[in-house]
Amino acid sequence: MKKIVLSGMRPTGPLHIGHLFGALKNWEKLQNKGYECYYMIADYHALSTEYSNSKNIKNYVEEIAIDFISSGLDPEKSTIFIQSLVPEHIELHLIFSMITPVPYLERNPVYKEQVEEIKDKDLHTYGFLGYPVLQAADILIYKANSVPIGIDQLPHLELTREIARRFNYLYGETFPEPEAILTETPKIPGIDGRKMSKSYNNAIYLKDSPEIIKEKVSKMFTDPKRIYRKDPGHPETCPVFLYHKIFNSVKIKEIESDCKNAIIGCTDCKKMLGEKIVEYLEDIRKKRKELEKNKKGLLEKLKYGSEKARKIAQKTILEVKEKTGILYGK
Ligand code: TRP
Ligand code: SF4
Repeated sequence: MKKIVLSGMRPTGPLHIGHLFGALKNWEKLQNKGYECYYMIADYHALSTEYSNSKNIKNYVEEIAIDFISSGLDPEKSTIFIQSLVPEHIELHLIFSMITPVPYLERNPVYKEQVEEIKDKDLHTYGFLGYPVLQAADILIYKANSVPIGIDQLPHLELTREIARRFNYLYGETFPEPEAILTETPKIPGIDGRKMSKSYNNAIYLKDSPEIIKEKVSKMFTDPKRIYRKDPGHPETCPVFLYHKIFNSVKIKEIESDCKNAIIGCTDCKKMLGEKIVEYLEDIRKKRKELEKNKKGLLEKLKYGSEKARKIAQKTILEVKEKTGILYGK
């Protein structure tokens, strides 16, 4: 039996190179290793935080679909779908909500942190508290074994496992307990050296034009101890050097020693990097142009994926209803 993989992203903004290395490349690898992969655009999860600004979600769904496919996810190999087009997720979410103790949700560290930190939105809602219950439904409705996620999502996966155990205990063995697949790539910092994030305005997006990429890179923070051109640099503390490791790995030894010996200046070092990133994202840019030209075709791809997902989801819902006894006429 093929292993089943599921992961998803919330359509709350365009994807950046952090997503590419932290998630998409890993997803693509799993797809090409022959796993049965489900990759979801979690529009209902987006609604849980963006409910007062919900008109943007639709545009981001489109953007993210383009980001997914242009970076190598293949709608013929993987099932790429929109969460709300598979309404069975909501049914399973409701059933799970009946068996999930509220304290499980209240003590979830991700929840506590976000309610505490995000001040510009009121997240004291029923839906936001239940966010991980919906995530459990997303995963378990396909009986996924493996979930490629970032470390920050581990508490949600633990809750998924608890819900699976609880359901199995109450109604009989039904769901596997899925495992996380963590990415090995180190986190790419933003151009200012902080965490790369839309809200810090420090991200390089997959959709950025070559000019914008070069301009962003030219503004990158460098080794703060290297003030004058003649000062020796400390590449290990420089975000530009970290980027070179990823985008320009063949030249890495040379850059390291040229920086330490003040042979190369930061302006030239960044110029070189900008060109490398532009080159690296060339294929993605090309595919994206084509996808953007045919939005109707894009939507068709997503509908096709959603219908495929729905067939499996409906089977699981039938089984769940049978086991819980909420099924009539059978
Ligand atoms: N919560 C995830 C995030 O913010 C998105 C998500 C929704 C997800 N459902 C999922 C991830 C199921 C993995 C599996 O990134
Ligand atoms: Fe960083 Fe390059 Fe400047 Fe060295 S030369 S400090 S690696 S930008």
